[in-house]
Amino acid sequence: MNAPPDNRERRLKWTFPLQIPLGVLGLAILVGCSTQVRHKWLTRLIDGVPEPGATNRPAMQLDEAGYPLTPAPHSQPASTNAPAAAAVKFVSHPPYEDRSCLECHRSQFDVKMKGTQREVCFSCHDDFLQKAKFKHQPADNSECTSCHQPHGSPIKGMLKLGGKALCLDCHDDPLAKGKFTHQPVETGCQDCHSPHASAQPKLLVKPSKDLCLDCHDDPLAKVKFKHQPVESGCTDCHAPHASPQGKLLTKPARDLCLDCHDDPTAKAKFKHQPVESGCLDCHSPHGSMENKLISKPLEKLCLDCHEQKDIDSAKGHQGMGATPCLKCHDAHAGADQYLLKPELLKAAADPGTKPPVAK
Ligand code: HEC
Ligand code: HEC
Ligand code: HEC
Ligand code: HEC
Ligand code: HEC
Ligand code: HEC
Ligand code: HEC
Ligand code: HEC
Ligand code: HEC
Ligand code: HEC
Ligand code: HEC
Repeated sequence: MNAPPDNRERRLKWTFPLQIPLGVLGLAILVGCSTQVRHKWLTRLIDGVPEPGATNRPAMQLDEAGYPLTPAPHSQPASTNAPAAAAVKFVSHPPYEDRSCLECHRSQFDVKMKGTQREVCFSCHDDFLQKAKFKHQPADNSECTSCHQPHGSPIKGMLKLGGKALCLDCHDDPLAKGKFTHQPVETGCQDCHSPHASAQPKLLVKPSKDLCLDCHDDPLAKVKFKHQPVESGCTDCHAPHASPQGKLLTKPARDLCLDCHDDPTAKAKFKHQPVESGCLDCHSPHGSMENKLISKPLEKLCLDCHEQKDIDSAKGHQGMGATPCLKCHDAHAGADQYLLKPELLKAAADPGTKPPVAK
């Protein structure tokens, strides 16, 4: 986590010369002074405050409480961030617009709140926290104003910052660590997360798998054999934000498979070379039309890498006809260099037994 008060500090620094007069100003506002008077106060404090009603406004604008309307340049979110980039029109919170200051503040002479922010805000808004199973800590802690401007804001939803800049004010950028990044995370966070609360852990807007299938085709839709972990979800193998591996894999593919499966070559004297480098040369990670998740029919799979002429010329293949390769060979490893199955090795040692050739 970053230090949450970062942005606030920046703002306080920026408004430093305003600190004391603001209190006075606040009181002045509370006792109901006109826009004209407030304008005088502000022009005395800083240059560049526009004439009330002026259309050609300078870059830095202030709201009625003296906050900059557009975020300071260094807190300006990335360029993809349309809401903030287009920050122009200040939208007032209706009770502020209506000058119903006392809906929230204790009295005309005291800017303190009537209660906690949850009490004050939920006196008008539906309490979305009450029934939620998982709550976002700042909302739960009654810190609505860590994200919202209570009086109004030029950013949609009365937010302090637009798009993912809001979230990155407190959270480390989940894309920072990854070489491969998930496209929707580049645009924002709210495609997948609720800002306040959720029935799902990690504030997900939907159960995790449904979320992925909102945008991706179901990889199990057209297969006959399904890989069990894919039936239960996607995040066993894929990182939701970013990863050092391609395809957002949480680990290099082989390590990933060996997290749940025994290494099929671990105890073998001879290893089939492609199995040492990985598993995806032969297996589909999600599902397949073939048993054991092999990526294509067996006859074709072996011939992807082995040439028919070499197979035809091998001594051990004489008269084997259409006998499946796996009748004699193990796909992963073996006790001899030809990866022959134990039965066959025994047969070779005892010339009395016949090899398992198809009739
Ligand atoms: C919807 C509730 C609400 C209404 C209505 C409201 N305020 Fe506020 N006001 C707040 C909150 C929340 C804060 C921030 C308190 C904090 O950060 O601790 C605040 C802060 C202030 C401050 C302190 C300076 C600042 O901006 O931090 C002043 C001054 C102020 N309000 C004046 C007013 C005036 C004048 C009105 C009526 C025109 C008004 N407020 C209406 C909620 C409200
Ligand atoms: C006196 C009633 C009242 C209080 C108290 C109040 N609000 Fe509101 N708020 C409204 C009304 C009315 C609207 C405009 C209608 C709407 O969108 O619900 C509104 C709109 C909003 C919106 C914008 C919704 C949008 O879609 O753009 C936000 C965000 C919001 N309020 C947050 C707060 C927060 C945070 C507090 C507490 C600091 C608060 N409100 C307290 C009455 C209130
Ligand atoms: C972590 C940041 C964050 C916190 C904390 C937070 N909000 Fe929000 N809130 C948002 C965002 C983001 C939206 C969506 C704005 C949009 O896109 O229109 C939102 C929307 C709203 C809306 C508009 C209606 C809706 O539900 O979409 C209201 C009302 C609201 N918030 C009230 C509150 C209140 C009350 C609290 C404190 C109990 C609070 N918020 C705390 C970020 C936050
Ligand atoms: C004011 C600071 C603040 C802001 C702004 C903020 N968060 Fe958080 N967030 C927290 C804190 C504190 C926690 C709880 C500690 C933790 O789990 O790291 C948290 C937790 C989370 C979690 C994990 C919840 C869990 O169950 O483990 C998610 C997801 C999250 N925030 C997403 C967001 C998104 C999306 C946004 C922008 C809409 C956002 N946050 C904005 C402070 C913030
Ligand atoms: C494509 C959907 C998606 C987007 C977009 C997204 N997230 Fe997440 N996020 C997830 C999922 C899924 C998890 C839960 C991972 C898990 O359960 O292991 C998660 C978990 C988290 C957590 C909890 C801690 C952790 O890493 O497990 C935080 C914090 C978080 N996200 C913040 C963010 C922020 C900030 C953004 C925007 C910059 C964002 N997320 C955008 C899907 C997304
Ligand atoms: C809001 C839409 C959206 C959601 C939700 C979403 N994705 Fe994506 N995802 C995309 C887009 C867009 C791309 C990039 C385009 C592409 O390669 O298809 C992408 C790319 C990917 C890739 C990399 C593809 C490649 O070829 O490198 C994987 C893996 C992935 N997403 C998995 C997931 C998982 C797992 C989830 C659920 C946690 C998820 N996605 C949720 C939109 C989404
Ligand atoms: C058992 C681990 C595992 C699970 C669970 C898993 N994937 Fe994958 N996924 C992979 C691997 C490994 C690749 C890389 C394939 C490659 O490089 O050829 C991949 C690739 C992808 C791609 C990139 C395009 C493609 O097909 O090569 C997308 C999109 C994707 N997965 C989505 C999902 C979704 C959605 C889910 C959940 C329904 C999911 N995955 C569950 C392991 C998994
Ligand atoms: C999260 C754990 C997990 C991961 C990661 C995982 N698997 Fe699986 N795999 C399973 C489970 C559970 C089954 C079903 C039970 C079984 O048959 O062993 C299964 C079944 C299989 C099967 C079919 C076994 C049969 O007898 O039908 C193959 C082949 C397979 N996995 C290969 C892979 C490969 C290749 C990878 C890496 C891309 C991988 N697995 C990653 C858990 C996992
Ligand atoms: C050269 C192709 C190939 C490679 C590479 C490969 N496999 Fe296999 N695998 C197969 C074939 C073919 C089968 C079916 C064996 C059978 O039906 O007797 C199989 C079966 C399996 C099974 C089902 C259980 C069993 O042993 O029959 C698992 C689990 C499995 N492989 C895991 C892996 C893992 C993990 C890797 C990577 C370390 C891997 N495979 C690499 C071809 C391969
Ligand atoms: C991804 C490529 C690939 C696939 C698919 C593949 N092999 Fe291999 N195989 C190799 C490589 C590379 C070697 C070791 C180099 C060599 O000597 O040709 C090898 C070696 C062998 C050997 C050991 C004898 C030798 O020449 O060293 C046998 C037996 C064998 N493979 C059988 C099979 C069978 C049966 C299948 C189908 C289940 C299969 N292979 C699928 C690449 C592959
Ligand atoms: C009837 C059992 C049997 C069947 C079926 C069989 N093999 Fe063999 N294979 C052997 C024996 C025994 C050897 C031992 C070496 C030799 O005699 O040349 C061998 C050797 C090999 C070699 C190494 C050849 C060399 O000269 O280095 C490869 C590669 C191979 N087999 C692949 C395959 C493939 C691919 C299939 C399926 C199309 C297959 N085998 C089917 C028994 C069989």
